[in-house]
Amino acid sequence: MKFSAVAAISNRRSVRTFDGNNLRDSDLKALEDFIKEPLNPFGTPVNFRILDPEKYSLSSPVISGESLYLAAKVKREENYELGFGYSFEHACLYACSLGIGTVMLASTLSRDRFETAMEVKEDEILPVASPLGYPASRMSFKERLMRQAIKADRRQPFSSICFDGSFSTLLNEDQAGVFKEALKLAILSPSAVNKQPFRAVVDGNTVHFFEYRTLNSDERIDIQKVDMGIFLCHFDLCMKEKGNIGSFYRDEVSIETPEHVIYTISFKI
Ligand SMILES: Cc1cc2nc3c(=O)[nH]c(=O)nc-3n(C[C@H](O)[C@H](O)[C@H](O)COP(=O)(O)O)c2cc1C
Repeated sequence: MKFSAVAAISNRRSVRTFDGNNLRDSDLKALEDFIKEPLNPFGTPVNFRILDPEKYSLSSPVISGESLYLAAKVKREENYELGFGYSFEHACLYACSLGIGTVMLASTLSRDRFETAMEVKEDEILPVASPLGYPASRMSFKERLMRQAIKADRRQPFSSICFDGSFSTLLNEDQAGVFKEALKLAILSPSAVNKQPFRAVVDGNTVHFFEYRTLNSDERIDIQKVDMGIFLCHFDLCMKEKGNIGSFYRDEVSIETPEHVIYTISFKI
């Protein structure tokens, strides 16, 4: 079950057009085993299942040719979005290492049916689900249009996301030291509507992470905090793969923040 997160992150893109084939038994079994014990550094229990779309009438208007769906639910406890985003992305990266395509769907899915299939209770939430299948050789016209509309292939430059000590000093990648590779790969993270709400302030052997909230959140979920969980997953997996051990902790940060920017968590090596 070991896989290279760095390779998976470099190869990953959202897949919405699948080739219509079922998953090979060996791939399905490997993914089932992987999601049995989803770990994240925040200790959030995430409950995964692989669902048959025919059995539960599951669908998405932007997806075609999928074989199955990966769905997960979580209890709505403090900061559940971070642990959920981390664990769901970890599973998607593992799927990618097997050649299976995924895309997180928060809005374009038959949500009621997913919630029924997952038996989501009053104190739980199903933030996203993803189709599973092998990518088709050509994207559908709809998928190409969607990617163009949200500029899905683009990411903000390093120095728009990463700062040096405070939000008033930009950081270029060569100043990021031991964090350089992990931050570069974290910037490739998928995010809702490709808004890339991630911000990082590097301060010596510590990085403080912030969310630049630009999408309206309802009281049940801050979807951009799920994006932050994904970003932290890329960052953490890359740090570990490069042998740089550190841990996440909550700090009393005194860094002045621009409007709509909210402190998330810190990481110390
Ligand atoms: C939390 C989250 C929710 C998303 N929701 C949807 C969705 O409802 N429908 C959709 O087609 N794509 C959705 N996406 C996929 C993003 O649009 C996609 O990740 C982004 O455009 C970047 O493209 P890439 O993943 O190919 O790099 C979502 C992604 C994330 C992380």
